[in-house]
Amino acid sequence: MGQRFSVYAPASSANLSVGFDLLGLALRPVDGSVLGDEILIEQGGSGCELMVEGRYAGLLPPDPADNIVHEAYGLCAEFLGAKCEPVVPARITLRKNLPVCSGLGSSAASVVAAVLAADAVNGSKLSRAEQMTLMGQLEGKISGSIHYDNVAPCFLGGLQLILGLDGRVSERLPFFSDWLIVVCFPGIKISTAKAREILPREYPRATAITYARQLAAFVHACHAGDEALAAASISDVIAEPYREILIPGFAEAKRAGARLGAVATGISGSGSSIFSIFRNAEAAQEMKRCLERDFIANEDGFCHVCGPDEQGARVTPL
Ligand code: HSE
Repeated sequence: MGQRFSVYAPASSANLSVGFDLLGLALRPVDGSVLGDEILIEQGGSGCELMVEGRYAGLLPPDPADNIVHEAYGLCAEFLGAKCEPVVPARITLRKNLPVCSGLGSSAASVVAAVLAADAVNGSKLSRAEQMTLMGQLEGKISGSIHYDNVAPCFLGGLQLILGLDGRVSERLPFFSDWLIVVCFPGIKISTAKAREILPREYPRATAITYARQLAAFVHACHAGDEALAAASISDVIAEPYREILIPGFAEAKRAGARLGAVATGISGSGSSIFSIFRNAEAAQEMKRCLERDFIANEDGFCHVCGPDEQGARVTPL
């Protein structure tokens, strides 16, 4: 039997209100529960044989050939082939733990895990930059345009600022060690493409300046360790005013966060998940209870108290 690998790729929260398309944070539940996609890969079979399991497998296309993980293997094989590298057939199991269209970087997690798995089983021939390029291309196919604010934190871990430069897609920002992020998926699907369509095509100059000022202040605050400035900078002038109507109970959840002393509460990525940042573990747990009681709309929903996943995606030889 050929080599086997398991790959884990964490959930992530893009935007963080202050950095539309330019910030993303990898998430790790503080209670040790799994909040990310997992892939098991081994050499064998013919071509790429994909099996899908896990809590959210039922929300994926019924034909595995339509799954992005299958496509990722094909794209990696093509890329390796173009470099005259041999490509092996592979059997893949995707454990789909993240719901699609949830605002928690579900597609990015599958894409990141798939590219790392495909590379591992083929002898780890890709550079980090090549891996990132392939991940970006695949994520772009799903959401309609290439943005790295889920892929970069999922792959590299921590809080990532998207630079979008050739060979320098993102840079890690220091995050605040005592900040806890409560993330809650209400169980409602919102496609990123649709949530982008409802945004204005152009923004007034004053909004552009506010966005730049707040994001610059936030980045400065992260480097300076200035929690108060970071907290004061977290507000969303780009997406939340237009998207909040897509998320039933968002305004109430935001008020609950404020009542419990949240640093900020906002939409995670393009929704429907929301995030709420706390400095106090008890308040974070209380927010979790509130959201479980009042915000979750059906049995697909869940809520976790998280810290940053500093490690990002990991490959383990088995
Ligand atoms: N930043 C994107 C958006 C979602 O809010 O539309 C995640 O890539």
